[in-house]
Amino acid sequence: MHIVAVLSLKGGVGKTTVALGLASAALRRGVRALVVDLDPQGNATATLDPAGAEVGLAEVLATPRPSMLRRAVSASAWSDQLDVLAGNEDIELINEPAANTPGLENLSLATAWYADPAADPYYDLIILDCPPSLGRLTRSALLAANGALLVTEPTMYAVSGAQRAFEAIERTRREENPQLRALGVLVNKFRVRSHEHLYRISELRESFGSLVMPVALPDRLAVQQAAGSCTPIHEWATPGGREISLGFNLVLARMLRSARRGRHHLEPPQRSSVTEFDQDALDQDALDLEAPTR
Ligand SMILES: Nc1ncnc2c1ncn2[C@@H]1O[C@H](COP(=O)(O)OP(=O)(O)O)[C@@H](O)[C@H]1O
Ligand SMILES: [Mg+2]
Repeated sequence: MHIVAVLSLKGGVGKTTVALGLASAALRRGVRALVVDLDPQGNATATLDPAGAEVGLAEVLATPRPSMLRRAVSASAWSDQLDVLAGNEDIELINEPAANTPGLENLSLATAWYADPAADPYYDLIILDCPPSLGRLTRSALLAANGALLVTEPTMYAVSGAQRAFEAIERTRREENPQLRALGVLVNKFRVRSHEHLYRISELRESFGSLVMPVALPDRLAVQQAAGSCTPIHEWATPGGREISLGFNLVLARMLRSARRGRHHLEPPQRSSVTEFDQDALDQDALDLEAPTR
């Protein structure tokens, strides 16, 4: 099972977009997934528009018992094959640096239960959409996850931001959660004609090498259009929608493969251009799609 924290240091870089894109790819691939909305702003919840669950994340963090966990998840409006654990504003309280509220470690109990094949409901993939900081809620996600995917834009400070985030991941792995793996850095909102973007990506590659995902997600209107109409990106049949969907298929396939191999770091082949999709990986994805997922 895969419990993946999608994080960044700032807001607006595309964490929620990536969390939802991976959920959409999982749906397409037949992987049973749960999206946990850890951001008090609740953007993922708004786009997935779940049929009202009686309780949300705040209640789960307060009381992570099976009866509560069962009540807290509900099917998204996208499909009954994709569930949501809805965020609510109450979790903001937990994010306060001085908060004494219980809950941080309770997320791990909850995700471990949902990821247990004996549980009902059970999920192959749990995606944790983090708030825009390395605060307590993001830390709780790193305690609960076995993979961390870092999202960044190809702008100034991307390298230093990624370094700080990786230090947090590495520290959590060393001190508290040995299961945690850095899945990689995913560059989002990439504009192929921007020299600045190309330069920043080369900087990231220099610093992080193969940890930088071999595909960057382009800046496409389809992303906003699909989210605005609460539609999975894989159903957004425009060239931009298809391009982004292909990127998410690739990222999901790499995540699932890397976990199977039990590596700490991904080692994609070196590519000269980030605009180029990794054909070997895509071919492998096509094979994977035919194979049973469990
Ligand atoms: N690849 C992309 N192309 C175009 N717009 C994007 C892309 N990724 C994200 N966006 C838009 O940028 C805004 C912020 O993205 P979001 O995923 O909410 O970021 P975060 O969760 O990190 O705060 C949203 O309006 C989203 O639709
Ligand atoms: Mg978000």
